[in-house]
Amino acid sequence: AHQWRGVIREYFDRLPVTEEDRIISLGEGGTPLVYAPALSALVKGEVHLKVEGMNPTGSFKDRGMTMAITAAVADGAKAVVCASTGNTSASAAAYATQAGLTCAVLVPAGKIAMGKLSQAVAHGAELIQIDGNFDGCLDVARKLAENYPVFLVNSVNPARIEGQKTAAFEVVDALGSAPDYHLLPVGNAGNITAYWKGYNEYYEDQVATSLPTMWGFQAAGAAPIVAGHPITDPETVATAIRIGNPASWEYAEAARDESSGVIESVTDDQILSAHRWLSAKEGVFVEPASAAGVAGLLKKHAAGEVPTGKRWVITVTGHGLKDPDWAINNPELQTGDGNDAAPTQVPQDVETVAR
Ligand code: F0G
Repeated sequence: AHQWRGVIREYFDRLPVTEEDRIISLGEGGTPLVYAPALSALVKGEVHLKVEGMNPTGSFKDRGMTMAITAAVADGAKAVVCASTGNTSASAAAYATQAGLTCAVLVPAGKIAMGKLSQAVAHGAELIQIDGNFDGCLDVARKLAENYPVFLVNSVNPARIEGQKTAAFEVVDALGSAPDYHLLPVGNAGNITAYWKGYNEYYEDQVATSLPTMWGFQAAGAAPIVAGHPITDPETVATAIRIGNPASWEYAEAARDESSGVIESVTDDQILSAHRWLSAKEGVFVEPASAAGVAGLLKKHAAGEVPTGKRWVITVTGHGLKDPDWAINNPELQTGDGNDAAPTQVPQDVETVAR
């Protein structure tokens, strides 16, 4: 029986690794591409979700982290550092543990979902909460890596982008061709950069005969690329993408422009409504930021900007269990029709339960 071997072993020839490298892997990648019937019916096309919450630490970051930690080991590093809105820190902590490296994570105080925080703690990372937002954390992390013997594993490290590009390979391998459109959330803009690189590499090697149009979506309160300037105080319920000055800004614009795509914003209400759509209509539970791509499709559909008869792939980036409060607190669930999030409490009696 074939067991998926992680993205480095599966795509060895397409990644900057050598036979001498000690590969650090938790079996990441090989995530399901799930057909989304309700979205497909809505847009009169074929919509698939790349469910990245199925990675070992529950987000797409693992694809990049297997490469970054493998590179850190090859470099002889003893310690790694990253800034994070939560998922990168969870991933770095887990992969550093397998490698036997010390891991320090810098996170914005009070703005990290509990599931992610608990992962970093469980894996024994040095958790440093900074009075500031992600952009400030990244600034400190970069300076630490410049001035101290610590290896930076944020997506400004090219190894991260290399690993994450494998998601585009998997999409093409699964569909037999590139989709017409690829949609995804944009925060620090590493992932849109990575997908575009992956699609281009398959296209240049004629594994795929076309390239998708890239549509990226930022949260409205944290949409610097849409605004055209950094946002000093980014704010959104989607804490994973609460970023005001993305490191891969120019690469994201290149992906947008070279693919004739767009980078637009979606409001918190649109994000939570897409979150609810995914849970209630597609059976896919994600964290709020992960729903931004779907929010974008719904927004563009409502605006009459979604062509019919197309094939769509939307990356849903992280697992719903990372940040489950939003499902319980979602006002759309409080309908009063017996489907409320609040459970009905009854005695242990069959007739009462049946009623
Ligand atoms: N979705 C989730 C769940 C994320 O955690 C992130 C980024 C993104 C989308 C945006 O991806 O940054 O490549 O544009 N999270 C980073 C972190 C910033 O620290 O975990 P991006």
